Amino acid sequence: MDDLKAKWLQLIGAAGDESALEDLRVQAVGKKGEVSLKMRELGKMTPEERQIAGPALNALKDEINAALAAKKAALGDAALDERLRSEWLDVTLPGRTRRAGTIHPVSQVWEECTAIFADMGFAVAEGPQVEDDWYNFDALNIPSHHPARAEMDTFYMHRAAGDNRPPHVLRTHTSPVQIRSMQAEGAPIRTISPGRVYRADYDQTHTPMFHQVEGLAIDRDISMANLKWCLEEFFSAYFGTAVKTRFRASHFPFTEPSAEVDIQCAWEGGTVKVGEGDDWLEVLGSGMVHPKVLQAGGIDPAAWQGFAFGMGIDRIAMLKYGIPDLRAFFDSDLRWLRHYGFSALQVPTLRGGV
Ligand code: DAH
Repeated sequence: MDDLKAKWLQLIGAAGDESALEDLRVQAVGKKGEVSLKMRELGKMTPEERQIAGPALNALKDEINAALAAKKAALGDAALDERLRSEWLDVTLPGRTRRAGTIHPVSQVWEECTAIFADMGFAVAEGPQVEDDWYNFDALNIPSHHPARAEMDTFYMHRAAGDNRPPHVLRTHTSPVQIRSMQAEGAPIRTISPGRVYRADYDQTHTPMFHQVEGLAIDRDISMANLKWCLEEFFSAYFGTAVKTRFRASHFPFTEPSAEVDIQCAWEGGTVKVGEGDDWLEVLGSGMVHPKVLQAGGIDPAAWQGFAFGMGIDRIAMLKYGIPDLRAFFDSDLRWLRHYGFSALQVPTLRGGV
């Protein structure tokens, strides 16, 4: 009995995994296992022998079962330990950072303009960048012989011989959106139209593609005074300080009268400060919408009137954020973008000051 016990306990102790343990269980205490066969021999024994062997075999069976259970638990623990060891993860390690992209200053200023004008009741209107030349010129009172057409260094779209669609251009300004908005909405109307525009020109202050924002307000009794208020309100919100404006008489075919607008500034050590001093910086063109332009937009000039303006987005971005060279805006130089770009979380709002 002692040999039997020593043998099985030793085998169980040495079992390497759960299936080896199960084999041992079958061989020792299974139906035809060694201990079970021994128990069957009890029947052939004398009652005296049986009284000793019976309880001893039962005790042996219990011991073997207990050893099997203990070993099974130990094997389970070892497997868990191994999993914990191999799947171990240090959650306190710092994460691998990925550089987030930045919002381009043009996009930022575009959003700032939209937020400020939206607060004054202007909705955003957009138009195509490849524009019918009627919208870009004729409807804006710039007939074909007009010198303004030549001055704008227009990119014309190629037309194959026999193609008799109207001539198209890359729009030279956002003003054609005025006509499209008037046609779509009629009067009264209050829209701004930020967008890309194109001219064949390239130097430190000109790039072939740049950005403008157009403004249009039409109602029964809109005047130059409303224009001046809107613009001063805009510049003060945009630059975060009270900004004086100066209106200079000018000429645009699409407005009558027309004015170029300067904002107050000071030059300090080669940099410009808006809203201080007594220098002036030209920032936009504006005026009262010409009756012919209202007509082209399907609005009766006898009943309605209004103002319009057009401003360079890139230019006011340079002024606000101290960016010296326009061309760098469109170089896609990552160092420049990281320096001048904005976090995606810096959403322009009027409350926080834009
Ligand atoms: N379209 C003009 C330009 O590109 C700017 C402009 C001037 C727009 C006067 C206007 C305006 O709406 O009234 O230079």
